[in-house]
Amino acid sequence: MPLEKIMIEGGLPLKGSVKISGSKNAALPLMAASVLVDGPVRLSNVPQLSDIRTMADLLRNLGALCEWVTDDSLVIDGSGLSGFEAPYDTVRKMRASIYVLGPLLARLGRARVSAPGGCAIGPRPIDLHLRGLEAIGTEIALEHGYIEASAGPGKLQGRELDLIGPNGASVGATCNVMMAALGAQGTTVIRGAAREPEVADLCNFINAMGGAVEGAGTDTLAIEGGRKLGGGKYSVIPDRIEAATFLVAGAITQGDVTAEGCRADMMQAVLDALSEIGFELEVSKDRVRLNCSGGPLKPVNIVTMPYPDFPTDVQAQLTALLTLVPGVSTVKETIYVDRFIHIAELLRLGADITLGRGEITINGVESLSGAPVMASDLRASAALVLAGLAAQGTTDVLRVYHIDRGYERIDNKLRSLGARIRRGPQDQ
Ligand code: EPZ
Repeated sequence: MPLEKIMIEGGLPLKGSVKISGSKNAALPLMAASVLVDGPVRLSNVPQLSDIRTMADLLRNLGALCEWVTDDSLVIDGSGLSGFEAPYDTVRKMRASIYVLGPLLARLGRARVSAPGGCAIGPRPIDLHLRGLEAIGTEIALEHGYIEASAGPGKLQGRELDLIGPNGASVGATCNVMMAALGAQGTTVIRGAAREPEVADLCNFINAMGGAVEGAGTDTLAIEGGRKLGGGKYSVIPDRIEAATFLVAGAITQGDVTAEGCRADMMQAVLDALSEIGFELEVSKDRVRLNCSGGPLKPVNIVTMPYPDFPTDVQAQLTALLTLVPGVSTVKETIYVDRFIHIAELLRLGADITLGRGEITINGVESLSGAPVMASDLRASAALVLAGLAAQGTTDVLRVYHIDRGYERIDNKLRSLGARIRRGPQDQ
């Protein structure tokens, strides 16, 4: 595929409503877990994203059926599952491929998954995934860059285990161990489980298919193994990160944007930050309107933490906004201390930011000035698009394939809010 760039003429306030898509980070584990269900599963509210297509290809290569039946619905039938390998070429494209590890162990007692390497947001270890799987009886070896995991018949045994890591709970490890535990004998209790809504969605999905997981949304999950899961329908939760990104788009352009079909209760820390800065919010259960009343804006100090605190996945977007908020703001990143690659690009647009270890200090400037910038990862690209919407003149965001991994038709959605934004080929 030829490389593409997004071109933005900045300076227009965005106005109107935008429909929030289903959550990528919830849909990915649900797709993997669907192969544990006896019979077809129909997932709706699935976003059309390259990461979702990568997971669909991976499941097909493992022998599952995975078909789009409408624009946002996928039918997955894992009855034909026979393969047990997630190859390097897939995992290097998408780390979340590791989500097949737990389901393959539960279904086939064997999995061979390429170990994910580093990524643009820094080191991303998988020790907690492996520790949790070992605790319930999996034998694990690392050979030639692959995780070789096996648990013959009767080997997976429900246990009580602690999954807390140095930076708190792990979303991925909690989901993977939960899925493997469905194939274990007896009940697995995960202490130090991640409380993110995407993890709770996996618990709710398993229960909707006839499983028994207790404690969704808390740090202790009890998963009953050995229950037969039957086919059914399930709708993925809305994407809280996409919703936050569009609200910041309204804020950074001094506009009036409504995120429709979101879940305000899953975004409290972001809404608190926006209102502390000085934006007016109208909040109901499934919509949030952000209106720039023109009142004074003030700097904030943000710390990213596991849910329900401020999410790392909105750090870059909020940073873009804070570059234009008068005064000195700070942003401390505790989940991925190196997740600051976007800073160098924001500086090229005229931002005033000082980078320390795991923390930045932002001195609000009066305006940004458009320039070509390079996207480095999904949320960093979103931050650059947001900055471009506010900057004077033209901003070209190169390598937009990063953004297409996690934002459904972002250019179309922003255009519907009045942005002057288009997509075109990027010179090699
Ligand atoms: C999920 O990644 C998301 N990805 C990430 O979103 C998100 O940033 C992250 O959770 C944190 O919320 C998906 O859902 C596909 P973690 P995950 O395991 O599961 C450490 C995006 O932009 N850790 O919860 O990989 C880890 O280094 C992406 O959509 C270990 O130490 O994240 C981090 O500091 C980027 N050992 C912390 O835990 C492990 O074995 C939380 O990571 C695993 C993680």
